[in-house]
Amino acid sequence: MDEKETKKRPRISLRFKWTFFITIVVFFMYVIFAVTNFYFVSHTMMKNEQVTVKNAVDATISRFEEYNQPLNKETVKNRILVDTKNSYKDTLVDQLKRNDLQIVIADVNNKQLYETKNYNIPIEKTSELTIKEQHKNNRLKGLVGTAPIKSKQTGKIIGYVSIYNNIHIYHETINSLLSKLLPNAFFVLVASIFAGYVLVGLVLRRIRMISKTIKSINESPESEVRIPKQKQNDELSDVAEQFNSMLDRLQQYTNQQKEFVQDVSHELRTPVAVLEGHLQLLNRWGKDDPEVLEESLQSSLQEVSRMKHMIQEMLDLTRLEQDENKYADEVTDAKPIILQIYNDFKTLHPDFKITLDYDVREDAQVKIYRSHLEQIIIILMDNATKYSDDKKEIYMSVSRSENYLEIAVQDFGVGISTENQEKIFNRFYRADKDRSRASGGTGLGLPIAKQLVKNYKGFMYVESIVGSGSVFKIELPIVTKKD
Ligand SMILES: Nc1ncnc2c1ncn2[C@@H]1O[C@H](COP(=O)(O)OP(=O)(O)OP(=O)(O)O)[C@@H](O)[C@H]1O
Ligand SMILES: [Mg+2]
Repeated sequence: MDEKETKKRPRISLRFKWTFFITIVVFFMYVIFAVTNFYFVSHTMMKNEQVTVKNAVDATISRFEEYNQPLNKETVKNRILVDTKNSYKDTLVDQLKRNDLQIVIADVNNKQLYETKNYNIPIEKTSELTIKEQHKNNRLKGLVGTAPIKSKQTGKIIGYVSIYNNIHIYHETINSLLSKLLPNAFFVLVASIFAGYVLVGLVLRRIRMISKTIKSINESPESEVRIPKQKQNDELSDVAEQFNSMLDRLQQYTNQQKEFVQDVSHELRTPVAVLEGHLQLLNRWGKDDPEVLEESLQSSLQEVSRMKHMIQEMLDLTRLEQDENKYADEVTDAKPIILQIYNDFKTLHPDFKITLDYDVREDAQVKIYRSHLEQIIIILMDNATKYSDDKKEIYMSVSRSENYLEIAVQDFGVGISTENQEKIFNRFYRADKDRSRASGGTGLGLPIAKQLVKNYKGFMYVESIVGSGSVFKIELPIVTKKD
């Protein structure tokens, strides 16, 4: 279902998607920065312009407030011209020299008494300073500040002053800001596309390397190709490492399977050949010779039962290797099982002196499936009987540590050389082929026991001296109070 869906969708490369995404994010951030910047600057500039207006109004008022009578043309002219002529620079003169400011002074009836330039805005009668914005064609043109001039002594209104600020500096600053922000936007756009493209390319190069390896593995699954070791240490190098170790495991697994099939066919060849030999013998002579008939039938039956045993063991082992955790929650009381096997072996092998030393007081609940525990101990007991010579003695002992139940099976037989002590846990490995074959062994008992113990998170060891005997020990987890 997924495959169809992905096929239907148009292919958009990661490089495109990521570059697009990075560009959008960077550009968006730039826009936010630019807008905030713009508003902050324009707000501050506007405040400044308002302060300029207010200062000019204050300066004018302070120039006239010492008069008690309403202002007239004469007084205004004198007061302004005198000081202006005096080249003595005070605030008002300074203000008036500024090109962006215009000043109008009116009498109490709002009649203009003085103006610096043609000024067409009617002066409003206000009781206090008001600063208003002036618009033309929906555009902000300037600021108008109007205030009454009051006599300092009488406190009465003697005239009005109006200051017009064409906010020249404000406009200039805003324009220059815009002229930088807008081209910068274009630059940011191009730069972020470029940076995104390059950065994403760097990441993608490594992804491509991984995908190339996968492709070549797909083409020849046997190949030893691996993703090259990564210089960086990051998520991608984790992926590469995990992928490589997955490949190693898979190849190891298929190799195991191959080996297994080879081993099996090799192991089955002998009994099949023996069987064939006996059948040919029967075919030729057996019909007439009751002795040959009897002997060949016996031998054939023996080979068949050997094959049956081998096939059963092979199946067991394969199953065990496949479902390692199938019986993970099983719990078994060890004592009755060990006693049972002890008694069975005593009955089966009356020539053996078998001793059981059960040194565990309370119940030992082992975390294992009942028949698996049986199987492990039987495998060890079976070997102990099979590989004993003259001294037919077996010593079984059971003890416990805090978390484990320890079961040991000791014999006083042929023993195993140090070199062989590891190999005997490999499939089909038999230290002494003749002896093992004679006793019907396939070399699968210990591998099965080992796999079982491993499945239940236990341990298994062997100690042995050639000629003196061997001890096989297993440790299996028991149910503790914590569980
Ligand atoms: N107690 C022991 N004393 C000496 N040699 C042993 C002992 N147990 C195992 N071995 C050696 O290890 C080999 C492998 O044992 P394993 O039980 O796996 O196979 P097997 O006994 O040959 O066949 P089967 O599959 O029937 O058990 C044996 O062939 C034998 O050489
Ligand atoms: Mg065995």
